[in-house]
Amino acid sequence: MNLAEIRKQFDKHLVANYSRLPICVVRGEGSRVWDTEGRSYLDLFPGWGVAGLGHCHPGVAEAVCRQARKLIHVANHYYNEEQGEFGEILSTLSGGYKVFFCNSGAEANEAALKLARLARQPRSLIVAMENSFHGRTFGAISATGQPEYRKGFEPTVPGFVHARLNDLDSVAERMAGGAAAVMLEPVQGEAGVVPATPAFLAGVRKLCDEKGALLIFDEVQTAPARLGDWFGYQHFGVAPDIITVAKAIAGGMPMGAMLARPEVAAFLKPGTHASTFGGHSLGCAAGAAGVRAMREEKVLDNVRTLGKKLDGKLAAFARLPGVKAVRRAGFMIGIELDFAGADMVADCRDRGLLVNCTHQTVLRLLPALNIGAADLDEGLSILAECLERAAPPDGGGAGG
Ligand SMILES: Cc1ncc(COP(=O)(O)O)c(C=O)c1O
Repeated sequence: MNLAEIRKQFDKHLVANYSRLPICVVRGEGSRVWDTEGRSYLDLFPGWGVAGLGHCHPGVAEAVCRQARKLIHVANHYYNEEQGEFGEILSTLSGGYKVFFCNSGAEANEAALKLARLARQPRSLIVAMENSFHGRTFGAISATGQPEYRKGFEPTVPGFVHARLNDLDSVAERMAGGAAAVMLEPVQGEAGVVPATPAFLAGVRKLCDEKGALLIFDEVQTAPARLGDWFGYQHFGVAPDIITVAKAIAGGMPMGAMLARPEVAAFLKPGTHASTFGGHSLGCAAGAAGVRAMREEKVLDNVRTLGKKLDGKLAAFARLPGVKAVRRAGFMIGIELDFAGADMVADCRDRGLLVNCTHQTVLRLLPALNIGAADLDEGLSILAECLERAAPPDGGGAGG
């Protein structure tokens, strides 16, 4: 089928809850994808951050095929080897947290929120951050600090308030009534790549310790490896009580996980929480193969060294007319424009480059963690050309 036929099929049979770009991707390899019309694209936003090793990493693909022939899924009232192995890997990389497996970022956050309330009952208050994004389930939209994600779905879950990121006083104020937990993204991704400061994170940790509240880091975007350490918390040197991960954790397979300090994890007993598909063998085999590949390909070094090299280029972007700010945290890059970025995304796509735009004006890149310097340079050159074309000579106004 060609693109027009596929679009017709979608229109007729699928819920129209996504605004999709007019590309039907049929194949991927590393940081490249191909569409039904035979065009290839350099993908600097692979799978919304899922394809941390690029598309179809051979080691992951091989592990999935091997595992699929052996055992795809087994219920969680039996043991299985793959869940044990991947659990040990995540626990070791995180420095001893215990692992609960689920299927997505939102689900990992639901588990974290439930555990926090269970562990700190009768307290139920959760202090989350303004502009945060934690997913689309009811608990997750209640934590998400952007009212537009709750609109039309009220009443949401009671007991959530929002403080300002990097404003410790506002967190202290919100915790005043006695909070069960504070929840935050160490780098707000969907908000446009907005990092927390190390001093703020250390201050929130201290507040939580003083007040007996738990600290939850939503690391769905920042782990694994995206900031140059396995977990974002290691990058910032501030250890939370609970960590949530998903996206790139299992080589592209749908998987989420909640990691909790053992004393906190101990509150979850049989019957308190569960997931039918959680930690299924296929996903765990892919996850273990993915981490193996990340080690072999030295992605932590790649993010650190290539990331630093990017700074010169990004500084030049920041001087272009129409660019308000450029932010980078590891391999999370946000380029804030003073005009809507949708045309820019389309222009890049026409030139064979896939990027994202969040919050209408922030171009966002989440390159594969193992991307090479040549691909990254190529992508940034295309982006620079598009930015130069889009910005009007007087430096302001709309793109196009
Ligand atoms: C920080 C963060 N948390 C949670 C989520 C939700 O993850 P999922 O879509 O897998 O439920 C996302 C998704 O983009 C995210 O960026």
